[in-house]
Order: sequence, then C-alpha cells, then structure tokens
Amino acid sequence: MRVTAAELLAEVPDLAEHEARRLLLLAADEAAAWLIGNPEVDSATARRFRGFVNRRRSGEPLQYIEGSVVFGPMEIRADERALIPRPETERLWELALAEVPGAPAVVVDLCTGSGNLALACKHSFPDAMVYAIDVSPAAIELAKANGTQLGLEVDFRIGDLFDALPRRLRGAVDLLISNPPYVAEAEIDTLPREIREYEPLQALVAGAGGTEVLARIAADGVEWLSPGGVIACEIGETQAGCCLELFAAYDPRIERDLAGRARYVLGRAPQRRRVH
Ligand SMILES: C[S@@+](CC[C@H](N)C(=O)[O-])C[C@H]1O[C@@H](n2cnc3c(N)ncnc32)[C@H](O)[C@@H]1O
Repeated sequence: MRVTAAELLAEVPDLAEHEARRLLLLAADEAAAWLIGNPEVDSATARRFRGFVNRRRSGEPLQYIEGSVVFGPMEIRADERALIPRPETERLWELALAEVPGAPAVVVDLCTGSGNLALACKHSFPDAMVYAIDVSPAAIELAKANGTQLGLEVDFRIGDLFDALPRRLRGAVDLLISNPPYVAEAEIDTLPREIREYEPLQALVAGAGGTEVLARIAADGVEWLSPGGVIACEIGETQAGCCLELFAAYDPRIERDLAGRARYVLGRAPQRRRVH
C-alpha cells in the first residue's frame, strides 16, 4: 500500500523532525527537495524507512545509519570502526590552519580515527606529506578507505602515538594535530547512551585521569616538531588548566569552541632546541 511522505513522517512523533526527514530521504535515496510536494512513497522505501527508525530508536547514532558525515570540505564515511567526527573537531582544524604560517611540508595527525583531520589537512595543504596514526587497525582501515574515496594521499599507520612515525621525521613536523581520547574512566557512565553503547570506547577513554594521552603527546611532541612548529590538540572542557601545564614547553594558549567552552590547546615548539 502506498503512503505519502507526510503520513510516514507522522508515524514517528518520537523522533526529532529533522532526523525523521533525513531517514526518509536516506530510505528513498533522494535529496531534500523531494519532500516538497509530499510525494507518494512505495512500499519498499517505507519498509526501509521503518527499519532505519527502529535502529535510531534503539540508540544507534544517526551518522552511523546514514554512513557518512560532512567534515570541513569533505564527506567522510562514518561507521562503528571509529568515532563520528564532530563539529568541535572541525573547529580544531580551522584553528590549526590559521596558526600555520604558509604551507607546512610535514603534517602529523595522532589518533586519526576515521582520518578526518589528516584528510582535511591534506585537502588544505596538497603539497604536504601527511602522516596519520591510530592504535586501532579497524579505524585505520576506515581512514584508508576514506582517503581512497576522496582521492587524498595520506600515509595512514597503525601504532601507538609517535612510535609509528618514521624516525627521519624527528624535528621535521611543521604541524602536529590531534583529537586524542580525553575522557576519564570514571566519566564513562556519565556519557550519553548513544555514545557509550555505539562508539568505540578506546576512542574516548584515555585512562584514570583523562589527560594521559594528552600528556604523552605534550611530552614527546617537542622532539618531533620543527623549530616553531605548531601543535594543536582538542581537550576536555575541564582540562584547560592542566593542559596549560602539560604543554608549557610550547608557550600554549587555550581556545574556545563555538559554545564558549575551553576545548583546544595550541602552541609552538621553541625556535631553538635546547642543547643537553
Ligand atoms: C577521540 S578519537 C578521535 C578520532 C578522530 N581524530 C576524530 O577527530 O574524530 C581518538 C582516537 O585515538 C585512538 N587512540 C587511542 N589511543 C591511542 C594511542 N595510544 N595511539 C594512537 N591512537 C590512539 C583511538 O583508537 C581513536 O580512534
């Protein structure tokens, strides 16, 4: 039996209207303009729509159901292998671009997940060598697929932070960018269910305190950055004070997200290396 789009949307008053519309467009494989004029919907599309609605009702993030997310200038594939790229992280990329003087030759993205930051940097700096590391083989598989899909060449590597980088990059990295895990173990229970149950915990939780991975990046980054090289990391909103201390070697400053929360630490490596 055929139903109209409006009738189908009226079946799901419990979903936000924009989400229900997006799921219907996904089921129909149509763009937004299709909904104008309240088209009739065939039974296969209606069945697909109701299936998507059931997945959303059970808490699956909309972006995983849609299978993609817009990040900066690109559409990135998103699935359970990596964290869903967030608008806050897009802001990190914008801040880093504004901070880098000219075109960097070498860019490193630590904790790359779906590859969003590394790919956005390669898009902005096409001549740069971009390296991206993640400890999760599944995340790197997704990141590589994103690179291929977008035609952007990034050297994606599995490994633990700097361990996965070629030694010859020591002292040569012009931009070090990272959105690492920064949630404390005790905070897991306070996360929304759709994050806790669907997104990889390894992507979120850093350790008992929350700043463990940031601390390692801050401690080792100075050896990898070129003189004056830029470091830019996303942080938790209660971690600004701690991060100013952790990143003291970089003459750091804190930047805020669009909601006014202190969410980024930016700094530069010293112009001259200390001689030991
Ligand atoms: C918060 S997610 C960020 C993903 C992506 N950069 C983004 O902005 O959406 C953190 C990522 O760090 C990875 N990770 C955690 N510990 C790591 C480590 N020691 N070395 C490398 N990657 C790590 C996780 O697998 C996860 O993909």
